[in-house]
Amino acid sequence: MDGNGRWAQKKGLSRIEGHRKGTEAVINLLDTSLKLKIPFISLYAFSTENWRRPKIEITGLFNLLNEFITNELADMKKKGVKIMVSGDISKLPQKTKNLIIEAVDETKKQKNITANLCLNYGARDEIHRACETILSQKLEKISTLHIKKKIKISEKEFRNCLYTKNIPDVDLLIRTAGEKRLSNFLLYQCAYAEFYFTDVTWPDFNEEEFYNSIIDFQSRTRKYGGLA
Ligand code: FPP
Repeated sequence: MDGNGRWAQKKGLSRIEGHRKGTEAVINLLDTSLKLKIPFISLYAFSTENWRRPKIEITGLFNLLNEFITNELADMKKKGVKIMVSGDISKLPQKTKNLIIEAVDETKKQKNITANLCLNYGARDEIHRACETILSQKLEKISTLHIKKKIKISEKEFRNCLYTKNIPDVDLLIRTAGEKRLSNFLLYQCAYAEFYFTDVTWPDFNEEEFYNSIIDFQSRTRKYGGLA
């Protein structure tokens, strides 16, 4: 969701005002996704690298997230939004952690759309954690069964150790504000994602811009390494 800071700067506002406007864009995006029956949306809200930002911006971002959950949770439930989280939330402020746990629990039965909030998320961190988990599982098995053969890890076993174990791979990745990087986002899950780049800053990414990205996506031929 790039460009909140630039959007604010252009208008002579503080960066956090840009993030606030970005939160409104998130709500609108979810509404359009519901209308279009898009079943899964992942939002990169805070990366493992975003801790490098000034403390005032980090605090502001988590306060915004707190506000978002407090103000929107009832509506999310009404709309059928299931909230899930990817990332290590143990490092987040206690209030944010509690609100996230509550939001995940309160919406766990919702079925219209899954909103995957990526918080303190980094794909490398996710993959390293998956390796640690799978290694300990395998070592436990080896020591109890005295297996001496080569250790094999199936794709299914590995995927089950990722935060995204319950949701499918990315189909369309949208990157706003002219950035053209993956920035440590869902590296494993984006193996066959279609990329859409736009110069529009995130707060201005409205319904029409979203449709533009989907129309562009519909023109792609997806071959997954095979033939069309
Ligand atoms: C990147 O823009 C944006 C972020 C690091 C934060 C995104 C967070 C929100 C939109 C608010 C909370 C999220 C939810 C899911 C309610 P940037 O700050 O790098 O902008 P810039 O490149 O113009 O400086």
